[in-house]
Amino acid sequence: MESFNVFEIEMGCHIVGQGPPVLLVHGFPLDHGMWHHQIDYLANRYQVIAPDLRGFGVSQRGTAELTMSQLALDLSELLQKIVGEQPVCFCGLSMGGYIAWEFYRSFPKRLSHLILCDTRAAADDEAAARVRRMTARSVLKYGMDELARSMPNRLVATDPTESQAAVRDQLSRTIQRAAPQSVADGLLGMALRNDATPLLASIACPTLLVVGEQDRITTPGEMSEVAHAIPDSQLLSVPGAGHLAPLESPQFVNRAIGRFLAGEPLST
Ligand code: MLT
Repeated sequence: MESFNVFEIEMGCHIVGQGPPVLLVHGFPLDHGMWHHQIDYLANRYQVIAPDLRGFGVSQRGTAELTMSQLALDLSELLQKIVGEQPVCFCGLSMGGYIAWEFYRSFPKRLSHLILCDTRAAADDEAAARVRRMTARSVLKYGMDELARSMPNRLVATDPTESQAAVRDQLSRTIQRAAPQSVADGLLGMALRNDATPLLASIACPTLLVVGEQDRITTPGEMSEVAHAIPDSQLLSVPGAGHLAPLESPQFVNRAIGRFLAGEPLST
């Protein structure tokens, strides 16, 4: 793990491999470790850049607000230090996808490709934002135990296989380690995020959308609407996976990402 000074914080980032850069942006409230299968697979052909976002993993929280646009700015600054202005493939999962929309809004020319896993373009409605505010208060008051217990069940497939159950346990440990203040701030940041739907029609780079068939958080129906709105996009539906398709079905997802980046059809 390397460390980079980004605005007022030290940001941890795993960098491996050589070739065109691929940025892997984790979901909430995880860290770069959720990409370990993709890191191993892509490092043969690409420069893989897998940071811990502000306040998560080993990266410092700092004082800036934890909004999706701040997290996108952090990534822009980090990328400047690693690849300069060279366009990157931005691959984000869930909250990582919310950040991808903000990155695209501010730096459209710095994207070579977009890969959006288990995410959505719409903003929270008032009911969803209220639940986030309640969860933020609870995490600050009682700590991470409840979220570490309840959240992993919603992240993986409904009827998990043995390996998905192992993923669920790993997620629980990662969530337990997360800092309550960053988790609360991240929840409030997601509740305030912009609606990215108006941006979709203007996205010109090749885009891959990946969704677990059993994703209960960002559903296949929602992702299919996003795919219809982005001109040069393909939608990959991952059988038997939930909200963390790249971690639950790594071989299936890796093969598709490899083909997509090579400009090949997803299935032959
Ligand atoms: C994530 O996986 O990043 C979260 O589920 C996103 C969300 O809560 O909307």
